[in-house]
Amino acid sequence: MAGRSRDVTDEIRHRVSILEVVSPHVTLRRAGRSYKGLCPFHSEKTPSFSVDPERGVFYCFGCHAGGDVFDFVMRIGGLAFSEARRDLAERAGVRLEESPDAEQRAGERERLLRAAAEAAAFFRVQLAEDGGRRAREYLASREVAQTVIETFAIGCAPAGWDHLLRALRVRGFDAAALEQAGLAVPRQGGDGHYDAFRDRVIFPIHDLQGRPIGFGGRALDDAVPKYLNSRETPLFAKGKVLYALDIARAAIRESGEAVVVEGYMDAVSCHQFGVHAAVASLGTALTLDQVLLLKRFASRAVLVYDADAAGADAAVRGLGLFDQAELPVRVAVLPGGTDPDSFLHTRGPAAFTELLEQALPIFDYRLAIAMEHHDRRTVEGKVGIVHEMSQLITIALNHVRQAEYVRILAERLGVREDAIRDELRRLGHRQETRRPQAATSTPVPVARGRAAAEELLLHLLVADATLRASVRDAVVPEMFRAPGHRELAEALLAPGASTDDVGRLRERLREEAAVSLLSRFLIAEPPVKGDPHKVAGGCVQKIKLSDLEERIAQLMEAHGDAVRARDDARRDRLAVELLEAGNEKERLRELKVSV
Ligand code: CTP
Ligand code: MN
Repeated sequence: MAGRSRDVTDEIRHRVSILEVVSPHVTLRRAGRSYKGLCPFHSEKTPSFSVDPERGVFYCFGCHAGGDVFDFVMRIGGLAFSEARRDLAERAGVRLEESPDAEQRAGERERLLRAAAEAAAFFRVQLAEDGGRRAREYLASREVAQTVIETFAIGCAPAGWDHLLRALRVRGFDAAALEQAGLAVPRQGGDGHYDAFRDRVIFPIHDLQGRPIGFGGRALDDAVPKYLNSRETPLFAKGKVLYALDIARAAIRESGEAVVVEGYMDAVSCHQFGVHAAVASLGTALTLDQVLLLKRFASRAVLVYDADAAGADAAVRGLGLFDQAELPVRVAVLPGGTDPDSFLHTRGPAAFTELLEQALPIFDYRLAIAMEHHDRRTVEGKVGIVHEMSQLITIALNHVRQAEYVRILAERLGVREDAIRDELRRLGHRQETRRPQAATSTPVPVARGRAAAEELLLHLLVADATLRASVRDAVVPEMFRAPGHRELAEALLAPGASTDDVGRLRERLREEAAVSLLSRFLIAEPPVKGDPHKVAGGCVQKIKLSDLEERIAQLMEAHGDAVRARDDARRDRLAVELLEAGNEKERLRELKVSV
């Protein structure tokens, strides 16, 4: 979302009421200063969606969607910022005096969209023509049904160098335009162009409004690459779209759960066999943007990745993103050597559905992997398993979930819960010091401490202008770590930042997590009563302590290395540093900080 041109957006913001924009989508009831209703972005039975008309923000306490009126229109319509702005400008009767630059960009997008639409139409027609025979045979050999060929608008690029170039030239697109759209490639030596997609089955990739924005082309034989994708254009960013989401979104909303597969054919086959909530990540590397996109429609997800090593790897990496996005996820494990497409064709939809039902929650899945790596009957094996699980446990933002993880792990390994907590703490992940009198049976949060302190501090900064002014020396953006926190801190601590001008604050944010937090903090009161300067001081102290603990853990590890390496000089130096860090920690702990 590049450059929000200030004047026009401000003008629009002043003229349109967020209530009026939201109302057609949500039945709102007044509740104090704000309005409440059922969230349009996830399925729920009790209202957790709030709109604050005074501040012009919305926030859902269930799915954490939040933002200003532009964010709402973008989200509900699956629009880019410029499109949402045009929409709202029209509604507000504001003339869009776009800068030549913005106009050019919008013009370019339009052109790219039209080129992609023309190309998609061409590929579709080709599949029925003489030149499409091999592609038709290929699709038949893979038992792709006619119904899904139509739903997914699957087509083909004929063999030959310039079929698309010639066909689109007639429709007003020259080679340069097709090159920009990623559909043509300049010949070496600079003399002319040739079609980027040749002799392939074509899977168009659609945006949320069902418009083609990119293409995936599959070879009809063993040619490499097996899949060729459109290159990135201003229209098409691979890590920001999910294949088939435009088609799956209704089913996902309905069931609440999205089925995430890896490949084009996997998604197509899922839909063919009635798994209508399936989307594909287009390759192995799922991105946070894709997970957040999914979260707009899904309240849960199940990953069905290939059983091969690459698939398992991708699943493990992907899982961290779901945790970050706080979208509950399970993992379905396919039998070795199969992928969803081949499984569906050989074993049928009932077996596939059963597999989905048996999908393991993220924690159990990782634990199963860790148990394969280590022998849980031995001491070393137990330690190894705890180490492998530690990150997953400590990054869990949810207190209850974290305690539950520790409990399950203790049970499976046959060790005491506090032994595991001690080990996690020793690993330097634990952010909060346990008070000696704390009963060992109560679940002790592991990483919650620091993230909670950061969050509370930010909340206070949003709520209290005098605090914002007075903390400038004590609080710097670098203190914040959790997703979105640092960016929000930067925006709040910037000179002239004010919650009276929410629009300006919003424009400083690019991360969705930061926008969501800002909206929540504007709508909800801080959860802690008392002198905000004291409470904020406590937060600062907690964050600094956590930094120190982390440093101590690193020093201990380095110290251990030095001992093992018999590097006495380094060992002694580290011992001194450790001592100093320990003293500093004690000092800091005893301080009564107020900011
Ligand atoms: N992929 C890609 N480029 C490649 C290989 C793969 O973009 N050269 C992406 C495609 O989206 C593909 C997905 O990664 O669908 C999964 O790849 P892979 O498992 O190798 O292929 P399959 O989906 O099983 O493809 P097929 O069944 O057609 O062989
Ligand atoms: Mn496959």
